[in-house]
Amino acid sequence: MSKRVLVTGGAGYIGSHVAVELLHAGHEVVIVDNYVNSSPPAITAIEAAAGQSVTTIEGDVGDRDLMLVTLDGVDAVVHMAALKAVGESVEKPLAYYHNNIGGLVTLLDAMAEAEVFQFVFSSSATVYGDAKEVPIPETAPLSATNPYGQTKLMAEQILRDVAISDDRWSILALRYFNPVGAHPSGIISEAPKGKPNNLMPAVMAAARGDLDKVMVFGDDYDTPDGTGMRDYIHVMDLASGHVAAIDGLDSRQGFDAYNLGLGSGVSVLELIAAAERASGQTIPREIVDRRPGDVAASVADPSRAQTELGWTATYTVDQACEDNWRSQER
Ligand code: UFG
Repeated sequence: MSKRVLVTGGAGYIGSHVAVELLHAGHEVVIVDNYVNSSPPAITAIEAAAGQSVTTIEGDVGDRDLMLVTLDGVDAVVHMAALKAVGESVEKPLAYYHNNIGGLVTLLDAMAEAEVFQFVFSSSATVYGDAKEVPIPETAPLSATNPYGQTKLMAEQILRDVAISDDRWSILALRYFNPVGAHPSGIISEAPKGKPNNLMPAVMAAARGDLDKVMVFGDDYDTPDGTGMRDYIHVMDLASGHVAAIDGLDSRQGFDAYNLGLGSGVSVLELIAAAERASGQTIPREIVDRRPGDVAASVADPSRAQTELGWTATYTVDQACEDNWRSQER
C-alpha cells in the first residue's frame, strides 16, 4: 500500500537515501529538515535520483505547531532528525537532550494529536555499548557511554512506553551499524558540515588528497589485525531496510527493534585497502593511539530483520567504497 511518509532529517546523508528508496517503492515523501547538518541542494539531488518531486518543509521537529500542520494527511513517520556526533555530545549534552529527546517527544505528541501512529525510528548500534557477544543480537544488554548514546537509549525507552500506552501505535527502532556508501548514480553525496568524524569520510578525503593521511585509532585491539572492526552497511541497504520497516508497520502493533547490518566485520585497515582498490589511489595512514570510547568490535546479528522484515543487505564494502568514490569525484 502506498503511504504518505514524513521523513524528518530527510536532507541528511541517510535521510536523502531513505527518501529516494521510499519514492522508488511508490510512497509519497514529505521532508522536514532544519538544515543544521545538511543543505537544500540535497533535496534537488533526491529529486534527480528518484525522478520525482518531494514536498519539503524547512523547520524543526521541536516546533509542535509546524509538526501538526505537516502531519496532515501523513500515514507514517521516519524520524531521523537528530544530532549524531559522539564527541560533540560530551561537550554539549544539553543540545543533544534538547534535539534528540525534546524533538522526539514533541513529534510524538503532535503525532498522537494528529492520530498518526506509525513510526520508524533511527536508532544506533551505540545502544549496545561495549557488547560482550559479537555478532550482537537485539536481545543483548543495552547501555550507553556518552550523551549521544544515552539519547538513543532513552528514545527507545520512550517509544516502548508510548507503544504500551495506546495500542494504535506501531513503532520500529532500526539500530544502524556503520553506514557507508552512496547512491550508485553518484548524484547524492555525504556532505557533512565541518571536519569528518567517521572513518569513511576521512578515508575518502585522504584518497582525494584533501587530508594528508588517515589516522588509524589503535592497532592493539583484540581483532585479527589489531584495528577496530565494524559492520559497514551500504546506505542503500539501510534505505531498503526503512522501506521494509514502513511496509511492515501495518501488520504489527507495539514496539520492536531491529539491527541493520551485514553480519560481518571489516577492520580499519581492510576498509582503507578497499578504498584504495575503488579509487586507484594510495591512501597514506598512520597508526596513532586508540580513540577514547571506541570499542574493539561492533558487528550485527541481522537475522531478526531477515526473518521478520524480509530484509537482507546486498551491497558489499567494495561497492560502498566505489559508490563513495564516485559521489566525491570532482
Ligand atoms: N577510525 C579511525 N580513524 C578515523 C575514524 C575512525 O581509525 O579517522 C576507526 C575507529 O576507531 C573505529 C572505526 O574506524 O574502529 C569506525 O569509526 P567511525 O567513527 O567511523 O564509527 P564508530 O563505529 O566509532 O561510530 C559509529 C557511529 C556512531 C555510533 C557508533 C556506535 O558514527 O554514531 O558507531 O554505534 F555511536
